[in-house]
Amino acid sequence: MEEHLNHPVFKMLAAVAAQNNSEAYVIGGYVRDLLLHRPSKDIDIVVLGNGIDFAEAVGKQLKTKVAVFKNFGTAMLKYKDLEIEFVGARKESYRADSRKPIVENGTIEDDQLRRDFTINAMAISLNEANYGELIDPFGGLADLDARLIKTPLDPEITFSDDPLRMMRAIRFASQLNFNIDEAALKAISKQKDRVAILSKERITDELNKIILSPIPSVGFNYLFDTGLLKIIFPQMANLYGVEVINGKGHKDNFYHTLQVLDNIALHTNDLWLRWAAILHDIAKPATKRFEEGHGWTFHGHEDRGARMVPQIFAQLKLPMNEKMKFVQKLVQLHLRPIVLAQEVVTDSAVRRLLFDAGEDIDSLMTLCNADVTTKNEYKVKKYRNNFELVKQKLKDVEERDKIRNWQPPISGNDIMNYFGLSAGKEVGLIKNAIREAILEGEIKNSYDEAVQFMLKKAEEYGLRPKE
Ligand code: CTP
Repeated sequence: MEEHLNHPVFKMLAAVAAQNNSEAYVIGGYVRDLLLHRPSKDIDIVVLGNGIDFAEAVGKQLKTKVAVFKNFGTAMLKYKDLEIEFVGARKESYRADSRKPIVENGTIEDDQLRRDFTINAMAISLNEANYGELIDPFGGLADLDARLIKTPLDPEITFSDDPLRMMRAIRFASQLNFNIDEAALKAISKQKDRVAILSKERITDELNKIILSPIPSVGFNYLFDTGLLKIIFPQMANLYGVEVINGKGHKDNFYHTLQVLDNIALHTNDLWLRWAAILHDIAKPATKRFEEGHGWTFHGHEDRGARMVPQIFAQLKLPMNEKMKFVQKLVQLHLRPIVLAQEVVTDSAVRRLLFDAGEDIDSLMTLCNADVTTKNEYKVKKYRNNFELVKQKLKDVEERDKIRNWQPPISGNDIMNYFGLSAGKEVGLIKNAIREAILEGEIKNSYDEAVQFMLKKAEEYGLRPKE
């Protein structure tokens, strides 16, 4: 392992350990990521004895400030682009009569035993006797090879010590495309309700990491199968299931949504576009109807879905800002390019879509492409061809009419000034009529034509220009 510790900071940490007659180890995520060849800037150091004293000694050597967190017994310093955190090795034991652990100084192995997963419990020695040696008493390396998330202790204890670890297990499985060990999975299913004691922010933080992983369905399948999803995000769990009436079923919207999410993950790392994929059909259960002679319908699920977005964002403590508006807009518009692709594509329909989507048109097209999940090769080909057609049309119309980020040439203020009006119903009606006329292609997108059109409309309302 020594060849891996090629950053000069490790030799320096080893020198401090030797001077202080203490032992120090690199531990946790840094070691895991080293073995996975994933670059990492966060280094955790475990010291036998007092972590804060050790950090102060390192700080002196590096002439850097040390941030001390007395309550946690930890200290942190920044060195070049690295963030190094120090903690003393701990041993926890439980008395039968109390849930509160007794925390005392421990060996390196005691400390490793208390960590969440075997792949996160490996350490590398920084001590003279065995510098660079991998200390792996719980088989972390073998589990990395086997692509397994497993706890060093009985999982019931590991998860009960910190219920966030249930989310972390699923998050790591999703990020690394690993499996979760059977016993650990059982323990999650059993203890799932304990996530209630965690803050929403911490849960959502893990959820966002799952969403950003290469194949997000890996994590969501675990969330669903363990019952966690129903607790942390019931609206999504509610998409699951197929109902059959008169021998007719509909597709399972949960697995369809996961497919759309995996599809979109191939094309974007934007968290919010991935959220739009998760939420695009979220109102299908609420709008589901069986119509005789017709089959299953989900009329209005895009409107209803868009209205659910702020409520879901608030519930999950996601930001209630322009990111939420973006997701809401895509949910609202997600059917439009598909509808367009099924019909004869007219210029006015394309102008309308460009106007409504504005600068988010490319994101919307990415979502719609991902939404094609049919197994029927013929249909897939047809959709993709039609999308190409729509895309070409969008490009042509945009080049000619510049509708993206477009504002009609006459504003409400212009209308008020022209006719000496104060804000009122007529102003809105005239403004909309001008916009519609341009989008429909009745008049050109020019100031002069818009003024002529405005005068004609105003006459209908008995309005005259101001003297
Ligand atoms: N850890 C733990 N239980 C937790 C959180 C962390 O046992 N609930 C331990 C693990 O050994 C972990 C280390 O603390 O490797 C550092 O945690 P953290 O920085 O949160 O995660 P990383 O493993 O470094 O991974 P990432 O940076 O991807 O979050």
